[in-house]
Amino acid sequence: MLTSTATPLTTEQAHLKIQGGYRLSGEVRISGAKNSALVLMAGALLAADTTILRAVPDLADIRRLGEILQALGVKVQRLGSETIAIDATDLNTNDPPYRLVSQLRASFFAIGPLVARLGVARVPLPGGCAIGARPVELHVRGLQAMGAEVTIDHGVVTASATKLKGTRIYLDYPSVGATETLMMAATLAEGETTIENAAQEPEVVDLANFCIAMGAKIYGAGTNSITIVGVDRLHGTEYEIIPDRIEAGTFLLAAAVTRSAITLAPVIPSHLTPVIAKLEEMGATVEFPDPTRVRFIPAQRYRATDIETLPYPGFPTDMQALMMTLLAISEGNSLVSETVFENRFGHVAELNRMGADIRVKGNHAAIRGVPHLSSAPVTGTDLRATAALVVAGLAAHGETHVYGLQHLDRGYWQMEAKLQGLGARLERYVPSAATSLVF
Ligand code: UD1
Repeated sequence: MLTSTATPLTTEQAHLKIQGGYRLSGEVRISGAKNSALVLMAGALLAADTTILRAVPDLADIRRLGEILQALGVKVQRLGSETIAIDATDLNTNDPPYRLVSQLRASFFAIGPLVARLGVARVPLPGGCAIGARPVELHVRGLQAMGAEVTIDHGVVTASATKLKGTRIYLDYPSVGATETLMMAATLAEGETTIENAAQEPEVVDLANFCIAMGAKIYGAGTNSITIVGVDRLHGTEYEIIPDRIEAGTFLLAAAVTRSAITLAPVIPSHLTPVIAKLEEMGATVEFPDPTRVRFIPAQRYRATDIETLPYPGFPTDMQALMMTLLAISEGNSLVSETVFENRFGHVAELNRMGADIRVKGNHAAIRGVPHLSSAPVTGTDLRATAALVVAGLAAHGETHVYGLQHLDRGYWQMEAKLQGLGARLERYVPSAATSLVF
């Protein structure tokens, strides 16, 4: 850590100092998927038993959800750096506190297991966030279709049902969270539920596999039609979370912008197809030395291309900001269309401060490639926007300072150490000790 003579400031002003322009090399280890880990932790509430989850990254979001589960009467214990035990035998509270839920949208997804187990759940609306309004009406309508009575009062969603009933649910949009909430609720419902136009994201499949390991009957996860046959009860299990495809994508982009050859493991290569296809179209080469490894070989010049974010297996919205760092230094004009979230261009102004040439109109960003980026102090506005600025800093001429690390720490475990392991030159400046959540 660097030392400073300045008066102690707040953790808000912690930042990464990145010396750009150095090549990366070697192999990086990919952690378990944050978005899977969060929903599986909520899924553990479905069993009055103990569940062990492996490959859980030690992230701020995971700790927050651990606190929320504890507030519900659940025992959460870390057994190792990446293993947690969740004992939901004594789940006795159905109203997670607003103070905690408001910090973490994924905690709303606990409404499904809570109503299925306790017959009633009172969960505060998660509220807006930096990347868009993110409403929950699809979750609510699905629970209503299953016979739950749902009211929204003073910012709290109350769902109650003595026993949820299986039914046919059509989602207007293949929402990841709504598919997960309803799939969990349906595991303990009476009869058969079918979710049409379901999300097909790998994290939905991971949740289905986890619930199946707990005794649930789920068919078709990974397609747009999922059928769940309700059972009386689920039991605890031990389960290992899939590798994080967005973390893997982040390292692929870090390699691409620094024109470096690196290897990533473990990964599930098919989860990376939408990102790899674009990188290859732009001129890079990607090899698969074995079923859990990818090797990235850079191009010396990248061709511009167009990107449209879409539900899986389309190009992931979580990779949009990261891909833009490469498009910014590619040859030619690119167009990025963000169709999933309405306000996800917070990184554009910051990339422009680093010398990029990007114009935004509505949900489109027009990018004119420039030969290189140059360092500047920049601030991340959300998780992936901040990651994109770190990646941009690795490629930029000079020393870039990236602020907004509270976003980065929500979703990347040991990012600096992993990048340093690949030869990147960066350090975290921390003016005062960060507060830490404990469980
Ligand atoms: C999840 C991921 C997030 C990722 C996103 C899309 C977690 C914890 N987060 O978020 O990282 O970017 O999927 O891949 O897994 N929508 C509605 N009504 C609803 C629900 C959603 O209109 O009831 C809209 C949202 O506002 C958004 C779009 O649907 O515009 C996609 O949202 P959704 O798929 O639900 O994303 P999340 O589950 O919140």
